[in-house]
Amino acid sequence: MCGIIAYIGKKPAQPLLLEGLKRLEYRGYDSAGIAIINEKLQVIKSVGRVRVLEEKLAQHEDLHGTLGIAHTRWATHGEPSDSNAHPHTDDAEKGHGIALIHNGIIENYVALKTYLEERGHTFISETDTEVMTHLIGELYEGDLEAAVQAGLREVTGAYAIAVICEKEPDTLVVARKGSPLMVGVGKDEYIVASDPSAIVAHTTQAFTLDDYTVAKLTRDSFRTTTINNVPITPQVRELEFSLEQIELGTFEHYMLKEIFEQPEAMRMCLKGRIDPHDGQVVLGGISDHVRELVRARKIIFIGQGTALNAAMIGEYLMEDLARIPTEVEFASEFRYRNPIVEEGTIVIAISQSGETADTLAALQEAKNRGALALGVVNVVGSTISRETDTGVYLRMGPEIGVASTKAFIGQVMVCTMLATFIGRRRNLSRDYVAELLDELEKIPDQIEKVLALSDEIKSVAAKYIDRENWLFLGRGYNYPVALEGALKLKEISYIHAEGMPAAEMKHGPIALIDDGMPTVFVATQNSQYEKILNNIQQVKSRSGRVIAVATEGDRHIADVCDDVFYVPDVSESLQPMLTVVPLQLLAYHAAVLRGKDVDKPRNLAKSVTVE
Ligand code: AGP
Ligand code: GLU
Repeated sequence: MCGIIAYIGKKPAQPLLLEGLKRLEYRGYDSAGIAIINEKLQVIKSVGRVRVLEEKLAQHEDLHGTLGIAHTRWATHGEPSDSNAHPHTDDAEKGHGIALIHNGIIENYVALKTYLEERGHTFISETDTEVMTHLIGELYEGDLEAAVQAGLREVTGAYAIAVICEKEPDTLVVARKGSPLMVGVGKDEYIVASDPSAIVAHTTQAFTLDDYTVAKLTRDSFRTTTINNVPITPQVRELEFSLEQIELGTFEHYMLKEIFEQPEAMRMCLKGRIDPHDGQVVLGGISDHVRELVRARKIIFIGQGTALNAAMIGEYLMEDLARIPTEVEFASEFRYRNPIVEEGTIVIAISQSGETADTLAALQEAKNRGALALGVVNVVGSTISRETDTGVYLRMGPEIGVASTKAFIGQVMVCTMLATFIGRRRNLSRDYVAELLDELEKIPDQIEKVLALSDEIKSVAAKYIDRENWLFLGRGYNYPVALEGALKLKEISYIHAEGMPAAEMKHGPIALIDDGMPTVFVATQNSQYEKILNNIQQVKSRSGRVIAVATEGDRHIADVCDDVFYVPDVSESLQPMLTVVPLQLLAYHAAVLRGKDVDKPRNLAKSVTVE
């Protein structure tokens, strides 16, 4: 939801901070800024992408300090503008040369702003963040760490912050509650960032700040406390991915790289976890809770966006394979609707980033009501992964593209393994599971075949890129795939696309069908194939254009559709991991052909860490 990077050490801070901003820009990118202390505090900021800031910095030869902070913003309070960009500073007249960057929302900022204005503070931005800076300035009595602790005791909301003060050129203070922040421990230097992608180029030793933690960093030491100044010891660990994993390589966009990484990433996801010969799934992360999982009386999936679409497939899998009553909830709705969580309920939080505020809050709500919490998360050590009682990491590698692709398939893969693991201990025979796992093991190879369709898919996308309204339809396991295809198209090409169950179309949406309107059907051969053929005819008879994802060898469907993308034939429960790939590529090519910024779509951010 924004990118934070801060540095204290012996190297020039400015180039290091700028490089970090570029690695973090996918997290939020409507404006950016940097503050460096070189005796005096200097702040440069600009609306627009990091490259605009870089051009502005090129005009400032005097930014040579070894202590600095930098930020890419995703606005929540105050439009994207130079004055609303971070870093924010305390009062120009009565301040202490304090600069602060922030990820999150300060919920009681209005009351605090009133209080501070009454005490003579003058604000220059519309943001909630600036209030924190003035509050810390108001409380500053020569000890920045103490002033930050005191200020944070007064605020409510979510924050990850980095703070510097020109009166303390050897001190960097950082803190978090609800938004991610990680401290990279280098040799006589510290690099603080929202996520490891901006740290791993400098050190592989890091610790994650827990909620209500404040860290005071100097060039050769650090101290971590609670906001009440109670010392705590963080756990420094080895970062689990390398720089090349977050480099673009030969691909034009991270999204395309991550689509094509899916086979290899899925092999990593599966590695050591399935034994087709013995019909066994091995998931170490849940070994302490097998009994509760197998005896579960209900499962509730929670998530947002793509993770929710994966959760919907998880629902079908759990009821189909594990025979456990299951429901799926928008995390943002679940948390506020006074949900009933009965004895024996498992809540499964699905999240690529592990930092989505709504999913985290819903998870905590479910835990407070007695549910056992299981995480299906990609980012190791993320907040959601640390809040759950048990869980399974995706192991799909870092996902940089804002539009989630390989994480979706990883989430579905993990849900498949989870459902099979539980089902094998309830009602599934060894032979059935052995066969399913044998197919599962081949899915990465099958995806490679589908990736080969990329050029064909691009030519089909070119036929329809001027159409501003699309429908995506599917049935059964492929209904959530239709939702995911619609989400992909709309979030990167800005085409309005709607997904729904194919049968639902005739209950209203069919009124939308007009000459040439593209409708994408996920129409692989499965238990509802004949029914979806009827739906295709209903669209065709109203002059709609039909693009179908179908099973290899199905020649009949080519007679009724305008364009067909074929995927290998697999069991119905495994089809989503194949049928989603043509839709990912369709969205990608449509967005590129429409000249959109695929990796940084307007208004979006990779991780929505605010509500
Ligand atoms: C999907 O392409 C979007 N980027 C978005 O819907 C995303 O899936 C959602 O914000 C959930 O993110 P998470 O998986 O990190 O929790
Ligand atoms: N709420 C702050 C603002 O609107 C921070 C937003 C962010 O996390 O980027 O500036």
